[in-house]
Amino acid sequence: MEVQTLLASKLSLAPMAGITDYVLRSLVRKYSKTCLLTTEMISSEALTQVKDTSIVARNSNHSPISYQLSGHKPQMIASCAKYLQKYADMIDINMGCPVNKVVKGTDGAALMRNPELAAEIVKTVKSEISIPLSVKFRLGYTADEMNFVEFGQKMQEAGADFITIHARTRSQMYGGKADWKKIAELKRNVNIPVFANGDVVSVETAEQCLLDSNADGIAVGRGILGDPSLIYRIERYLNFCEYICPPTLEEKISTIKEHLTREIEFRGENVGIKFTRKFYPYYVNGFQGASKCRGVLVTMENRDEIFKLLDRIMFEQVQKVW
Ligand SMILES: Cc1cc2nc3c(=O)[nH]c(=O)nc-3n(C[C@H](O)[C@H](O)[C@H](O)COP(=O)(O)O)c2cc1C
Repeated sequence: MEVQTLLASKLSLAPMAGITDYVLRSLVRKYSKTCLLTTEMISSEALTQVKDTSIVARNSNHSPISYQLSGHKPQMIASCAKYLQKYADMIDINMGCPVNKVVKGTDGAALMRNPELAAEIVKTVKSEISIPLSVKFRLGYTADEMNFVEFGQKMQEAGADFITIHARTRSQMYGGKADWKKIAELKRNVNIPVFANGDVVSVETAEQCLLDSNADGIAVGRGILGDPSLIYRIERYLNFCEYICPPTLEEKISTIKEHLTREIEFRGENVGIKFTRKFYPYYVNGFQGASKCRGVLVTMENRDEIFKLLDRIMFEQVQKVW
């Protein structure tokens, strides 16, 4: 598929390690049939050792889907990308991850300090695959090293078909505010599609982000926590001027149950229950007594009991509202 076709909805799910797993991608896809899904970052070192991990799982309706690779060894990343073509519609290279253990190995955002190596990675991967290749990076490593325009041009020259840019520096990690206006500078200087990323959490912020950045679309990350329908709602608004209300309490409870059920199917009861715990705070955010709800939910070990508690929470919330 052409890159333009893969990006036609103007929305993508941003990669999030430990979050955008097979199940969450399926939940996002349940609403948005057309957004570009992205896997969690897949370490090329790890994939070289073990090929069939659950991290690569997909199902037939996940297309269009991009698989994100991290690493710093061009040939190793290229071999992994070649292997992943049997699952992926696009390959993305992580050049923005800020976490210490990643940048210390010259992966992720550290590649922004080594544009030559980053370009070599893009060239080598591009020569091994026949599907589009994208890069995801930040504004720069620090506020004094904002090289995103030259970096983007270099990636384009090396063969990248698409860019996602998180409008923060590596030093900001996830603090401060994403500077969407900076993205407009990149847009003026490259001619491949650019998706803006950072702090889009609603239809309103999506609209503002596009106005400020002049980007071709938006990658949404944390906004989908607690609301996997967000990308669909933004998509309907931007493409069809249709405003869909955020999920009701009842819909949220039903999504938590579905999320838990699917994680149990995917990972088994014990691991599935533990894995899903990290999502509860986002789902119950805004409920009356939210901290008590999540405090109890994260200690529970049995699916039926969790379901009963969720029903009780719903009943109590409805009573409080009335
Ligand atoms: C828990 C978590 C894990 C993340 N993992 C990845 C990753 O694997 N690859 C990547 O490129 N970015 C990763 N990111 C960054 C997001 O893709 C995104 O750039 C960032 O969260 C800003 O967008 P947002 O405000 O829409 O969340 C991660 C972010 C979070 C919060």
